[in-house]
Amino acid sequence: MCGIIGYVGEKDCASILLNGLKRLEYRGYDSSGIAVLNSVNDKNEISMIRRVGNLKKLEKALSEVEMKGSLGIGHTRWATHGKPHRLNAHPHSDCKNEILLVHNGIIENYEPLRKELVLKGHKFVSETDTEVLVHLVEELYKDDLVEAVKETLKRVEGSYAIVVMSIKCPNQLVGARYDSPLVVGLGDDENFLVSDMPAVLEHTNKFLIIDQGEIVNVTKGKVEIYDRNGNKINKKPYKTNWDISLAEKEGYEDFMLKEIMEQPVAVRETYRAHVYKHKISLDESSLPLEIIKKAKKIFVIACGTSLFAGFVAKGVIEKFAKITVDVVTASEFRYMNPIIPDPSIIIAISQSGETLDTIAGIREAKKKKAWVLVVSNVMESSAVRESDGAMYTFAGPEIGVAASKTHTSQIMVSYLLALYLAKIRGTITEDEIAFHLETLKGVPDKIKSVLDNHDKIKELADIYHKFPNFIFIGRKFGLPAVMEGALKLKEISYIHAEAYPAGEMKHGPIALVGENCPVVAIVNKSSIYSKIISNINEVKARGASVLALATIGDSKIKNLADHVIEVPEIPEEFSAIINVVPLQLFAYEVAKKLGCNVDQPRNLAKTVTVE
Ligand code: G6P
Repeated sequence: MCGIIGYVGEKDCASILLNGLKRLEYRGYDSSGIAVLNSVNDKNEISMIRRVGNLKKLEKALSEVEMKGSLGIGHTRWATHGKPHRLNAHPHSDCKNEILLVHNGIIENYEPLRKELVLKGHKFVSETDTEVLVHLVEELYKDDLVEAVKETLKRVEGSYAIVVMSIKCPNQLVGARYDSPLVVGLGDDENFLVSDMPAVLEHTNKFLIIDQGEIVNVTKGKVEIYDRNGNKINKKPYKTNWDISLAEKEGYEDFMLKEIMEQPVAVRETYRAHVYKHKISLDESSLPLEIIKKAKKIFVIACGTSLFAGFVAKGVIEKFAKITVDVVTASEFRYMNPIIPDPSIIIAISQSGETLDTIAGIREAKKKKAWVLVVSNVMESSAVRESDGAMYTFAGPEIGVAASKTHTSQIMVSYLLALYLAKIRGTITEDEIAFHLETLKGVPDKIKSVLDNHDKIKELADIYHKFPNFIFIGRKFGLPAVMEGALKLKEISYIHAEAYPAGEMKHGPIALVGENCPVVAIVNKSSIYSKIISNINEVKARGASVLALATIGDSKIKNLADHVIEVPEIPEEFSAIINVVPLQLFAYEVAKKLGCNVDQPRNLAKTVTVE
C-alpha cells in the first residue's frame, strides 16, 4: 500500500527518487520522504526530508534545499500504524541516524519487538510498526549490512518490501521482500530498487523480480540475490514492453480520464492477444484440457473492481460452459475454509497481481489442490508467479486509483475464457463461437461511440452531482455493471451509492428512494427488459428521478426516465463491457464537479498489499 524506491549510481539522486515516487503515488499519498547519502572527502552524511500530505509538499520542500548524493531511498505512505505525521513518515532511522529504511507492508509482531528493543536502550520516535525494523538492523549490525538485514528478517512476522541504506556502506542498498512487491531496475552504472516497474521506466526496461523471502544486495554495478536460506541465486532479467508514455497523462486532466478514454485500445489489444484467426488460444500449460473437461466447479476470487469483473465472468461461464461458478471476495475466501471439489478451477482476477488478499486466496486454493488461473494486467506479478497459469489483460499501466481500462479488459478476458471453456467442454459449436467472436471484435468501436457521449454525460453530472445518495439497479447481466457503477461513484466522489438487483428493491431499498435519492438503472434491450421497466415504474411512483442507460432508439424509456444515456445494441450477455463505460464517465464527471481528486481518492490506494 506504500511505494518504495532506492537508487544507487552516479547521478544526484534526489530528483530521480522524487520522480519515481510520483509514479508510485497511487500506492499511498498521505505522507512521503526521501533520504540521501552524500560522501564528501571520505565523510558520509545523510540528509532527509519528510512531509505530511501528497508529494507536492515533498517537492516544495526539496526545491528549497540542496540534497546532494548518489545513493538514496524514498517512500510514499498509506498509513496503517500511526496517523499521517512527519515522524511516522518514512524513511525511518536508527538511534544514531546512520541506518535508514523504507518499508511497505505490516510487521505483525512489532509490539514485542519494540518492547525488547526499548529495554535494550533503543529510542523510538514514531508510532509505526516499521521503526522496529531499523532498530533491529542497528542491533544486529556487525560489519555486514546484508547479514544484519537477514538476521532482522528472521525475527519478523508479517509482510514487507524494504530498502535499507547505511552511512557505513555508502555504495550499497539492501532490499528484501515477503508478501509485498519489490523489483530491481537494471541500469548502466546505476540500479534501482522499487515497488513496481512503471516507477523507473524512464531509466530502464530491464528488471529482476525479487521473490518471496529473497534478499538483494545492490551496488551501482552489481546485483546479488540470496534466497531465504542465504544461498546466492541467479535470475534472468525480465524485459518489459511497457514504455514511459503509457505512464504519463498526455494532455488529459487526470490519469483516470485518460484511462477511461484508452478503453477501446485496451480492450482491442486484449482481444487480439487471445484470438488468432478466429480462434481463441490458451496454452495447455495455462489451463490443461483435462482439467477443463473434468472440472466440477469454478470459483472466482478477487477484490474491488476486479470482483465485479468476476460476476461478469460467472454470468457468461455459466451460460456458455454450463458449469457452476461461485464468486467469492478474496478476503473471505482465504478464511472460510472453502469446500473445493476435485478437480476445480480457481480464477483469480487482479489487475496488479499484488493484492494480498487475492494472493492469499490463491495460496488457499493451491493448498486444496485446485488449478489456479490468474487474470492480471502485470506479467511477472506475484499472483502470476504463484498461480498455475495466467491470462493477461493488455491495458498498459493503470495509474488512476479507481480502475477503468483494466476492468473492461478483464471483462473481455472473461468473455473469451467463457467461450473457450464452453468449446473444450463441448457446450458450444464452432459456428456459435465464430458468431460471438464477431460481436466481441466490434466491442472497441461500441465503447468508442459511448465515449463520444462525454459532453452529454458531463451535462448530466451537472444535474446529478447535488444528490447525497444514489441507488443503482440492474438485473441479470446488467447487475455487475451497476455494482461497479455504484462503487466508482462512491470511491471518487464520496457520494453514498448502493447497487441492487432491481427485483430486490421492493424488499427494502425502495424505502430509501425519493426526491433525494435518484435511481440509475440499466435498461438495455434484453430478455428482462419489461421486468426492469416495471421496476422503474415502481421507483418513479415514489418520486425518484431516474437516469437510465438504454439501447439506442428505445423510445419507451424516453417517456419514462428523467434522463437517458444511449448505448449501442449488443447481446445482453456481453452488455456489461459497454454499460460500465458511461457509468465510469458519470462518476468521473460528478467527482470533478464536486472538486474531488479523482486520481487519488481519500483513504484509498491502488494496490492493497496489506490485509
Ligand atoms: C484496490 C483498488 C481497486 C481495485 C482493488 C483490487 O482496492 O483501489 O481499484 O479494484 O484494489 O485490485 P487488483 O489489483 O487486485 O485488481
